[in-house]
Amino acid sequence: MKGIILAGGTGSRLRPLTGPLSKQLLPVYDKPMIYYPLSVLMLAGIRDILVISSPQHSGLFRGLLGDGSRLGLRIDYAEQDSPNGIAEAFLIGADHIQDEDVALILGDNVFHGPGFSQLLQSAVAEHEGCTLFGYPVTDPGRYGVGEVDAAGRLVSLEEKPLRPRSNLAITGLYLYDSEVVSIAKNIAPSDRGELEITDVNRVYLEQGRARLSRLGRGFAWLDMGTHESLLQAGQYVQVLEQRQGERIACVEEVALRMGFITREHCLRLGRSMAGTGYGDYLLDVASRFPAPAG
Ligand code: G1P
Repeated sequence: MKGIILAGGTGSRLRPLTGPLSKQLLPVYDKPMIYYPLSVLMLAGIRDILVISSPQHSGLFRGLLGDGSRLGLRIDYAEQDSPNGIAEAFLIGADHIQDEDVALILGDNVFHGPGFSQLLQSAVAEHEGCTLFGYPVTDPGRYGVGEVDAAGRLVSLEEKPLRPRSNLAITGLYLYDSEVVSIAKNIAPSDRGELEITDVNRVYLEQGRARLSRLGRGFAWLDMGTHESLLQAGQYVQVLEQRQGERIACVEEVALRMGFITREHCLRLGRSMAGTGYGDYLLDVASRFPAPAG
């Protein structure tokens, strides 16, 4: 499965933090925002990733992540000239997707909770058509909203409805088969002039090929469009990291645990940041990591 991180947009609601700086590079406590969605793709076992950003920020992402080899990944870059909607990612990323399945994640979404990597890996293994992830929220009208029947089957999808039929927001992580490219090519822009991801999802739903996986109690899904939500996400990460001493979305640690890099490589990454809390954490994680047998 290929991966796409959509890190475009102007981040207008976060001015003056944004402008020269991309929203998805702002700090969420101790690391850049894009580490959180990047770690989700990595935990799903995805190593071939396209980062889509606005043209003025593309160099910043390259500077941060390079070609991905430091993390045992392959990372390519593409640009979205203006915020024409999430589904445009499939047109921009068509060459990257080719005829493979693809996971799209929004660059400002944090997912965290027990059992998430297992849930992701089985969602990828069992995937066909379109897999969405639903999360109960108190303000569903701000999101895509999914309605499920008594058996948990997805029955309707609406984008930012005035009267939501349920409290299940559709989160910014989506799995598709390669047909998503032609589906995205054939949808019309919405009233706000965007290629809406919900319209793509509705095509799969009408074909009976969309399913919803529910992220339940005790799980955290946070998106960061405002100063309040950005701060809340940072505080969430800070509380858990300081209490447990384990870092969330530490991409080097994820690369090590997923077998994308060796323990020696992880030690080198740690040494390159030695003397910082982050670097010392990496050194600690790598030195305690079981050495391969033989
Ligand atoms: C977008 C999607 C929406 C989804 C949300 C998740 O909304 O259109 O369906 O629920 O992302 O973050 P936007 O953030 O563009 O308002």
